[in-house]
Amino acid sequence: MAIKGFDDETQVRLYTTHRPQPPDGLIRRIIRLLPSNKKFGVDVGCGSGQLTAKIAMHFDKFVGIDASEAQIEAAKSIYGQERDYLEFKVGLETMEGVENNAVDLIAVSSAIHWFDVDAFHEAAAAKLKSGGVLAIVGYAKPYHDDVELNAELQKLWSAIIKHAHPLTKHVFAEYATLALPPRDAFKDVIEIKPRDKHVTIFDGSLMDVIKFTKTLDTYNRVVQDVGKAEAEGILAAFESRVKEILNCDENKSNEEIPFRMQLDWFGRIAKRV
Ligand SMILES: C[S@@+](CC[C@H](N)C(=O)[O-])C[C@H]1O[C@@H](n2cnc3c(N)ncnc32)[C@H](O)[C@@H]1O
Repeated sequence: MAIKGFDDETQVRLYTTHRPQPPDGLIRRIIRLLPSNKKFGVDVGCGSGQLTAKIAMHFDKFVGIDASEAQIEAAKSIYGQERDYLEFKVGLETMEGVENNAVDLIAVSSAIHWFDVDAFHEAAAAKLKSGGVLAIVGYAKPYHDDVELNAELQKLWSAIIKHAHPLTKHVFAEYATLALPPRDAFKDVIEIKPRDKHVTIFDGSLMDVIKFTKTLDTYNRVVQDVGKAEAEGILAAFESRVKEILNCDENKSNEEIPFRMQLDWFGRIAKRV
């Protein structure tokens, strides 16, 4: 299945190297809520396995599902062979093929806003065992601790998000606008807020920020809306300002310029009644 916005060849390649993985503290928070005899977990909208890679080892069997064949192929090529308890397959939020009343954890990272949310909640209620956990997480806009560099990062972000898909509004609202899991099927809802400080730190280079930006569906939309040259121009203006602030030679490569970008996670965890 081809999923527009997620299976462009360059984008899939960048996903494998430049998408944030959830921080260990967030993974522990989810795992602690699970029964000790957890056996089976599923990551829906798994992309090339950013969350899967950090959580699958806690289960006897784990399945990553994604609508994009290209993302699933990338996930298989990275993780598929070395872990026999782990399977990746193409599929939708309805998790066809996963048995009812069989799953201990259903997790979604940075993907639920693309789903038919009601269909997903219905499927999650059917597939989870009683006491099983539904964990929906995502991350907000990137930031830098340095005021001046952060101002430039926010300027870049604002220029890009003007082109965001309407569904991305749920991300900007930190998922507060998403329908809650149905009350008759889920209880003990925990809201995870950015202030909880589950943070992913990209302690990398200016080039890493550029590559992360290019993984975003929203960046693809900028290219569609204004053309590649203008989109590259937005990135070039950001690069140039960062070099100016850091007093770097214009010819210094982006790989050589350190840039510590951070992302705060948010989301919602609930238990199947
Ligand atoms: C922003 S990416 C997130 C990937 C990964 N979970 C991560 O944390 O980076 C969203 C993913 O959701 C997948 N997706 C979009 N609509 C979907 C659907 N209806 N069912 C399953 N996956 C879907 C896309 O193919 C894409 O890989």
